[in-house]
Amino acid sequence: MTTESERNLIIKKAHYNLFKINAQDVLIDLLTDSGTGALSSEQWAAIMRGDESYAGSQSFQRFESVVQDIFGFKHVIPTHQGRAAERILFSVMCKKGSVVPNNTHFDTTRANVEYTGSKALDIVIDEGRDPNSLYPFKGNMDIEKLKETIKKYGVKNIPLCMITITNNSGGGQPVSMENVKNVKSVLSEFDIPLYFDAARFAENAYFIKERERGYENRSIKEIVQEMMSYGDGCTMSAKKDGLANIGGFLCTNDDLTAQHQKDLLILTEGFPTYGGLAGRDLEAVAVGLQEVLDESYLHYRVSETRYLGEHLTDIGIPILLPPGGHAVYIDAKTLLPQIPLLQYPGQSLAIEIYRVGGIRTVEIGSVMFGEVNSETGIETPSDMELVRLTLPRRTHTQSHIDYVIEVMRDIYQSKDELEGYKITKQTAFLRHFSAEFTPI
Ligand code: F0G
Repeated sequence: MTTESERNLIIKKAHYNLFKINAQDVLIDLLTDSGTGALSSEQWAAIMRGDESYAGSQSFQRFESVVQDIFGFKHVIPTHQGRAAERILFSVMCKKGSVVPNNTHFDTTRANVEYTGSKALDIVIDEGRDPNSLYPFKGNMDIEKLKETIKKYGVKNIPLCMITITNNSGGGQPVSMENVKNVKSVLSEFDIPLYFDAARFAENAYFIKERERGYENRSIKEIVQEMMSYGDGCTMSAKKDGLANIGGFLCTNDDLTAQHQKDLLILTEGFPTYGGLAGRDLEAVAVGLQEVLDESYLHYRVSETRYLGEHLTDIGIPILLPPGGHAVYIDAKTLLPQIPLLQYPGQSLAIEIYRVGGIRTVEIGSVMFGEVNSETGIETPSDMELVRLTLPRRTHTQSHIDYVIEVMRDIYQSKDELEGYKITKQTAFLRHFSAEFTPI
């Protein structure tokens, strides 16, 4: 616990960047759901039998067979986390001038696409850009825009298409099975492979079961298996729905692509049967991937997020509706209309939530996604100015969430006094991790 006056000093010393605050100075950490959840007793037990052989360990065999059983892809390549899988995937498949469509690229995905000299295109449906739309599958890809993209850039410039389930940067919103089938049928015509960014695949499947006709009586695993059957591969951050603290993988059905990927893997991650992970980590992921399919767990997870979202709505705080699987996203643009977009209303709110309650959240707006033109220096704001309250898995009780709600009630009372920030230092890539700010 820290006092408000202590936190005022801490945040100032961190140049108003919440990534630069030490964890012990945070009371409730809602920065991310990535690797921050609690392991189960079965995972800890599995960790104890980690086989640390360099090549062909039993831990890898168990990991591979679980991934193949759930995801159904032929080649399973372990990586230390999701972005390592992204880097390898795009390095192998993209070249300068390539275009990769996605519903919405996550920040590391976008950066890894752009790092190869390619263009990362977001073509989520219009409902997905409207914070108030209650459309049940706001993560869906716009099929017409996909067709236009192929026409505009040409098939040979589109080495792959991605779908992010759930759509993290668009509010943790799910993608329907129908949409995946439609995307697949467009891509099949042109032989463009479809890859899933599967970080939150189980939450996505739970929403399908809850919302899409014909899936009410299907198990989560069956829904995942069907969805993956439309894909040619996936990237995965096992720090999310792998229920692990670290880990990831890259899957593909294509033998030649897999060979290239494994060659690159050895260069930076490690031998293809451990890929930057210890055998014990592979074990934790193998068990986590099975546990995450448990419907009671998913029910609690989604209900916890919904509970927080509904209470914030009751206070009058505008959130991205409906609440997603892993987080509630506050619409800071609507909440703080007095702050111009390029004075970062989301950053201002995130700072205030820390200052008042010791709660760490993350801005997903113009700090993260604003585009600075490298020639003119002119900055274009992001479509939305969001603050994400991200819930780690299997971690919080209702009283933690009630405390967050109380803090947000206090902030709502004084919201008109909040002011903007300016960036005093930044990097060209992923600036939100290290940017420095000062109040205006
Ligand atoms: N894809 C999605 C949809 C993600 O949300 C993330 C990470 C990644 C890929 C990259 O995976 O972290 O294992 O390298 N998201 C975290 C977050 C960091 O806070 O949303 P990673």
